[in-house]
Amino acid sequence: MTATPLPASSMGPALVIGATGYIGRFVAEACLESGRATYILVRPGSASPARAATVDALRAKGAIVVEGSVNDKDLVERKLREEAIEVVISVMGGAQILDQLNLLEAIKAVGSIKRFLPSEFGHDIDKADPVEPGQSFYKEKRKVRRAIEAAGIPYTYICCNSIAGWPYHDNTHPSEIAPPLDRFQIYGDGNVKAFFVAGSDIGKFTIKAAYDSRTLNKIVHFRPACNCLSLNEMASLWESKIGRTLPRVTLTEKDLLAMAKENRIPASIVAALTHDIFINGCQVNFSMDGCKDVEITCLYPDISFRTIDECFNDYAADLPLKQGNEITSPNSMVDRVSITPTGA
Ligand SMILES: NC(=O)c1ccc[n+]([C@@H]2O[C@H](COP(=O)([O-])OP(=O)(O)OC[C@H]3O[C@@H](n4cnc5c(N)ncnc54)[C@H](OP(=O)(O)O)[C@@H]3O)[C@@H](O)[C@H]2O)c1
Repeated sequence: MTATPLPASSMGPALVIGATGYIGRFVAEACLESGRATYILVRPGSASPARAATVDALRAKGAIVVEGSVNDKDLVERKLREEAIEVVISVMGGAQILDQLNLLEAIKAVGSIKRFLPSEFGHDIDKADPVEPGQSFYKEKRKVRRAIEAAGIPYTYICCNSIAGWPYHDNTHPSEIAPPLDRFQIYGDGNVKAFFVAGSDIGKFTIKAAYDSRTLNKIVHFRPACNCLSLNEMASLWESKIGRTLPRVTLTEKDLLAMAKENRIPASIVAALTHDIFINGCQVNFSMDGCKDVEITCLYPDISFRTIDECFNDYAADLPLKQGNEITSPNSMVDRVSITPTGA
């Protein structure tokens, strides 16, 4: 397949697969906000109320719903052709990474897709080297990368690093839970830095990159300097929002490795990646000198990112705080407070 460059001004239609998911909602919303025709492939059948509400909300914003699964290659191929889709973005979840190989077959058969973004949305999987079961998860994502490259499909790999929120070591969707109110679990010495990017910015900059000729066959790293923080810095920032200090409990490297070794999927994958981020420093221990690497803030220097400070303000605003910032719970050892996703 020959990679046809996208003109910078392209407003061609996109197909988002996984739009009802945690990261996918941000991507689909950003695509709609960009004014492009946005098709979303949604699996039919027993929808949970939350999932059905997400589909309805996206439809209300203009999304064109296509019912089907990526496992139905004929349907996907037909839709790609009929709707003249230019950009395909997969935001499929961790358990379905290899299902994308079916999608690649449809993209190959159509031959006119100008850009494919596979479900990455984390670290650079060719550089990072987590322990098991994170390693097996990355092997699946690497298999998809190699299949894309072998087929000559024009691609962009989005490495957005961590989503903004408290990085719970056992939760695949950490930003859906507010930062702690009882105690912080600090991984290692808490001084290793990582990049935290608001979900709305993951969506916004993914769409920008998807339609940018400078990102053709590149790995796009999200490294906004304003959001490069250690866990100790994150903890202090959250304390400033809730107006009190919390105990800091250390989870050692050994603790995280033991959780990874339990091989409970997906929690152990998250523990393995947490170890890679906060012990090995996998987000910050390499420089951007590869000919395939581009950094997002260099591409769009005039567009700002939401700061962690702003994201933490959103969480704090949703907490039951009394005047003077005291938390109204009768028990100061409050359990994790679940809040509506804030876009963080
Ligand atoms: N950087 C970070 O902090 C971070 C955090 C979490 C995830 N991630 C990454 O982001 C990516 C997406 O993960 P996620 O957690 O957002 O996923 P998710 O919430 O599990 O959502 C997966 C989506 O894929 C859809 N899907 C699954 N199988 C499908 C099929 N056969 N046909 C069509 N659609 C299908 C699901 O639709 P249904 O509604 O039908 O189930 C759902 O919309 C992954 O690569 C993951 O590793 C990154």
